[in-house]
Amino acid sequence: MKIGILGSGAIGLLFASRLTLAGADPLCLTRSPAAADGLRAGVHLAYATPQASANATATRETVPLRATTQPADLATCDVVLICVKAYQAEAAAANLAAAWASLPADGPPLPLLLSLMNGLEAEAPFRRLLPAANVAVAVTYAGAARLGPANLRVAGLGPSLLPVLAPPADDLIAQLAALLNAAGLPTELAADSRRQQWTKAIVNAVINPLAALAGIRNGLVPAQAGFAQQAEAIIDEAIAVAAAEGLSLPAAPLCDKVRQTCQATADNECSLLTDLKAGRPTEIDWLNGAIARLARRHGLAAPVNEALWQAIKGRSGGQPES
Ligand SMILES: NC(=O)c1ccc[n+]([C@@H]2O[C@H](COP(=O)([O-])OP(=O)(O)OC[C@H]3O[C@@H](n4cnc5c(N)ncnc54)[C@H](OP(=O)(O)O)[C@@H]3O)[C@@H](O)[C@H]2O)c1
Repeated sequence: MKIGILGSGAIGLLFASRLTLAGADPLCLTRSPAAADGLRAGVHLAYATPQASANATATRETVPLRATTQPADLATCDVVLICVKAYQAEAAAANLAAAWASLPADGPPLPLLLSLMNGLEAEAPFRRLLPAANVAVAVTYAGAARLGPANLRVAGLGPSLLPVLAPPADDLIAQLAALLNAAGLPTELAADSRRQQWTKAIVNAVINPLAALAGIRNGLVPAQAGFAQQAEAIIDEAIAVAAAEGLSLPAAPLCDKVRQTCQATADNECSLLTDLKAGRPTEIDWLNGAIARLARRHGLAAPVNEALWQAIKGRSGGQPES
């Protein structure tokens, strides 16, 4: 099976490295020849804990990867993992669409595009700009941070949940799950993958803005004054929006998951805070922003998500990439 990686950053390189170590030979797309050369020379992985390494004896590994700067090269893949930030999705989808526009209409089918992006509706540009492609969404709890172009700190190899797809993509998804498991990335097929996507997005919509606005690591979030009320309000608004979207989500498990996640990632700085500090755009438009937008679309009120969306927008630098 040929796998492409669109977005050779933290999560893309983690998946590419593990798949390469398992013999799967994925192809990484980069935005510059220098970045492609760097990946070919080898990505350096540093495992934060023994559990973060598939082979508990290795604390560091260097993995040379296959890389290209040509989006057209990804057209020959069976599956492309979308690993850009949500605010980079529009430009990345446009690049793919332009590069693939000249492919013959009677040629082989386009690759399955499988998003690993966090949030809600981040994959929308790929659906809109590549209408002939099958676009699906996976959820991953693996965690990595990029310390340099080819330097990763691997925080953990948490589970990944792949969607159950209709034929002929069902076979591809099953093969991909088997490969990821062989690569030390525990993976399951989830019949309720939409629920999984919403659950992760809502948990992130609680933790990320509260941690970012207070400038604190995840573990300190539940100790903040007013945390319980704010978390409850974010979750209740999101649940009402999910219900309007045809998805029933109970509140109690979400509240529990927020506290568990804060505990399990206590020492982590969330990506929203890291992006704010670096003056980059953030993924807030696809977290609280998406909940507020969808609420408006359904004639619902989501004042707490709306306020957090605007508060983060007010502090973030940069614009979505074009
Ligand atoms: N990191 C995690 O632990 C983790 C876990 C679960 C889910 N996620 C989600 O996964 C997504 C990616 O996160 P990340 O942390 O991996 O971000 P990241 O480290 O910033 O990586 C994004 C990568 O996308 C590349 N890129 C951007 N636009 C592109 C384009 N048009 N064509 C080709 N490549 C492009 C960037 O290239 P440059 O190198 O040139 O900047 C960068 O390498 C986010 O939605 C995030 O929420 C991340």
